[in-house]
Amino acid sequence: MWWEKKGHLKVNDENHLSIADHDACALAGEYGTPVYVYNKQRIIDNFSAIRNAFRKHTDNFRIHYAMKANSNPEILRILHKQGAYIDAVSPYEAKLAIDSGFPAERIMFTGTSVSNTDLKMLVNDDIFINIDSMSQIKRLRKFAGKGLNVSLRWNPGMGAGHHGHTITAGKHIKFGIPESKLDLAVDEVISAGFNLVGLHQHIGSGWLAEDVPVFLDTVDKTIAAAVKIQDKIGHDLEFIDFGGGPGIPYSADDKEFPLDIYAKGICEKIASSTLKDAQIAIEPGRYIVGDAGVLLLEINTVEEKNVPIIGVDAGFNTLARPSFYGSYHEMIIGNHVLSKNTKEYMIAGNLCESGDVFNENRETLRKLPVPREGDILVILNAGAYGYSMASTYNSRPKPRELLVDEGKVKIIRDVEW
Ligand code: LLP
Repeated sequence: MWWEKKGHLKVNDENHLSIADHDACALAGEYGTPVYVYNKQRIIDNFSAIRNAFRKHTDNFRIHYAMKANSNPEILRILHKQGAYIDAVSPYEAKLAIDSGFPAERIMFTGTSVSNTDLKMLVNDDIFINIDSMSQIKRLRKFAGKGLNVSLRWNPGMGAGHHGHTITAGKHIKFGIPESKLDLAVDEVISAGFNLVGLHQHIGSGWLAEDVPVFLDTVDKTIAAAVKIQDKIGHDLEFIDFGGGPGIPYSADDKEFPLDIYAKGICEKIASSTLKDAQIAIEPGRYIVGDAGVLLLEINTVEEKNVPIIGVDAGFNTLARPSFYGSYHEMIIGNHVLSKNTKEYMIAGNLCESGDVFNENRETLRKLPVPREGDILVILNAGAYGYSMASTYNSRPKPRELLVDEGKVKIIRDVEW
């Protein structure tokens, strides 16, 4: 199958799915459903793949893990050991990263519509702030002394993402300082007495090979803007941050993300600019954890209503992406993965809403092996923006999370309300 990966996902001799050689159905039986299962080695391999792609060109880079993708403390600890930095979106994420072993100086906060309460917490915790608005610069003056190191997030005018909700640059976008205001923002930083050390962009989340050229155009624009800023402030910027966004294949039609083209593009553009000594920063989330996690559900209903229905024991409270973005997630029957006896189904969650289905939309049914009640449905590529977007809607608890670490299985978060 297109999603099989050595040492990670495979179809075993019993026609079951296994994850790092653990039978998914046995895990569901032992730990209950719904349950997220992550493969530690796959997380490490994904992180290493990004690091190796950059190392071919430079040593002057750092990888901020965008912990909004999955902030389980055990996963944070794994990535800390790998040498990651952190992209935090709230002061609470920053605190969680600190509690999971990251020193404050490895954490960068990039928020939007940031409150005074947030700013105070960040300053008290010595967290580096990447500023998103003029208002934020003005209000930060009240809580921070002169000489504070800061960077600016700007909007380079073009964005990309798997859905309109995940495009974060361009028109009608709330994030960052627009090109026309960048000069004013730099003046405001100077007048506040802050020390401007970096420029940041994040154009969106979940883009693949087709959008790499657009991304590289924004890299050019950001470098040009950074050069202008350096000329104005009279000293070099310490880093340029190109944000996150590299996507993963969610379906057989998606291609692997071209990491080499992406890393080479960034590194060569920096090397041929006057920013040669500026450190490159990136902020991937999905690429590191997305394909490392699966969600196991139990099928409790197989029935012909006005369409054939497979009912499962979780809904968009557990995995929001299909309902929220119409996202495609590959689904398989964990205890008979390969079968010629297939049929098209609506995969119905257990929440009290018609939109609570795991198909990418209600009208597009999914072809699956004909299941029996009690079988295990596995949703693939659920490691990023799965648990981290989960809620207790309908007063249902959030699911358990497991980490498989070669031969061992560990509960890394229990069922929570
Ligand atoms: N940096 C910043 C400033 C961001 O806003 C984000 C994502 C990232 C980095 C990481 O992006 P990644 O490498 O994971 O694509 N819930 C959506 C994704 C929202 C992403 C929000 N910001 C989803 O499920 O697709």
